[in-house]
Amino acid sequence: MVKLSINGTVHDVDVEQDTPLLWVLRDVLGMTGTKFGCGVAQCGACTVHLDGTPVRSCQTAVGDVGEMAVVTIEGVGATPAGAKVQKAWMDLQVAQCGYCQSGQIMSAAALLAQTPAPNDADIDAAMAGNICRCGTYVRIREGVKHAASLT
Ligand code: FES
Ligand code: FES
Repeated sequence: MVKLSINGTVHDVDVEQDTPLLWVLRDVLGMTGTKFGCGVAQCGACTVHLDGTPVRSCQTAVGDVGEMAVVTIEGVGATPAGAKVQKAWMDLQVAQCGYCQSGQIMSAAALLAQTPAPNDADIDAAMAGNICRCGTYVRIREGVKHAASLT
């Protein structure tokens, strides 16, 4: 049994300690906003926050989460940075097919929580691990800037 705090709610899940967090979110808890892309920490589709730090949940064993707070795309809108990013994504219609976008939003929200006024280099560094097959990178960068401008 593993105890996880996810979006402010504590869940007891009956899984092995080495089960990937992504599997628990999607298959055990039915929180399907976090996406499976590559499964090997190369695409960023599965990004969630652990105590505010963006991590790849496909390569994070639930046994390593401990008491760290997990925030997913279902909960990030309750954070100030997450709310700004989600509004900016809507304002600019950033998504195309949308598959990568929950991961993009999680990385962008973590960036803005740490760096409220990021420059291009900050944005590129923070978003480099999030792949978009649709090539929405220009809108993603504008989305981060727009989010940073929101009060
Ligand atoms: S599914 Fe985790 S990084 Fe691609
Ligand atoms: S919007 Fe389609 S993969 Fe990014």
